[in-house]
Amino acid sequence: MTDPTRPVPKACIIGHPVAHSRSPMVHGFWLRELGLAGDYTREDVRLEDLAGFVASLRERGYVGANVTVPHKEAVLGLADVVSETARAMGAANTLWFENGVLHADNTDVPGFLANLDERAPGWDRSGGTATVLGAGGAARAVIYGLLARGFSTIHLVNRSEERSLALQAAFGPAVKPCGWDALAAVLPATDLLVNTTSLGMSGQPPLVLDLKALPDTALVHDIVYIPLTTGLLSAARARGLATVDGLGMLLHQAVPGFAHWFGRTPTVTEDLRALLVRDI
Ligand code: ATR
Repeated sequence: MTDPTRPVPKACIIGHPVAHSRSPMVHGFWLRELGLAGDYTREDVRLEDLAGFVASLRERGYVGANVTVPHKEAVLGLADVVSETARAMGAANTLWFENGVLHADNTDVPGFLANLDERAPGWDRSGGTATVLGAGGAARAVIYGLLARGFSTIHLVNRSEERSLALQAAFGPAVKPCGWDALAAVLPATDLLVNTTSLGMSGQPPLVLDLKALPDTALVHDIVYIPLTTGLLSAARARGLATVDGLGMLLHQAVPGFAHWFGRTPTVTEDLRALLVRDI
């Protein structure tokens, strides 16, 4: 039974703008499903107000928070303890208090891996070759996760060579930068193709690729989830390849925060996916 003398734990998502965030829908679903007293709200915070807001998080009654664009990098300098993953990403998306100490972690990496584990059991090919499209913050999380799972080669396809070289410098020679014109040459040896660019996202230019050269056993993953079925996923399905959409990464990255704040580990279910799909 709920103790009426104890305050209801509340968490929030800090961003600017933040109105578009679907995180309240996800955490609200889990609170209802698990029958827990709790609250999860949006906090629109400008960069100049971020430090003051984070310093007053407990005073405001929050047990923790998610952090989104444009604050994921700046928040690293505001936490007392930063996880190794967040440090490697140079960005954090989850904050929580432990004995009054503010911890920061980046859950995009476990979210990416858990989604593939769930949607494509057996995808994990130690010693395998991945081709990653894009070299932004999302690519950094994807590459970190793939190297942790034992991929031996990651072809990194990006328009700006400078960003690819920065990721190679961060992760070592297993990361092999190349331009879009070299994609056809690397596809025949690709076990896993991951799009981390914004191409194919609603309102962005499409991602048009010839997937003929991919092996029949290749898995194609698009981390874009609006629309849920991107042009890349349609092309891969038409070619008979296994595919994974991006919605699950969003859902799985939310799990650790909920567990820290509300004390129960929630599950990514088909009902939760359906709720989000209706909103996309
Ligand atoms: P995120 O942090 O979500 O990964 P980002 O840092 O803005 O977002 O990265 C977006 C990625 O999409 C980048 O790899 C970008 O390529 P550049 O580094 O060359 O800019 C890629 N991208 C976006 N629009 C693109 C386009 N029209 N053509 C090719 N790549 C594009």
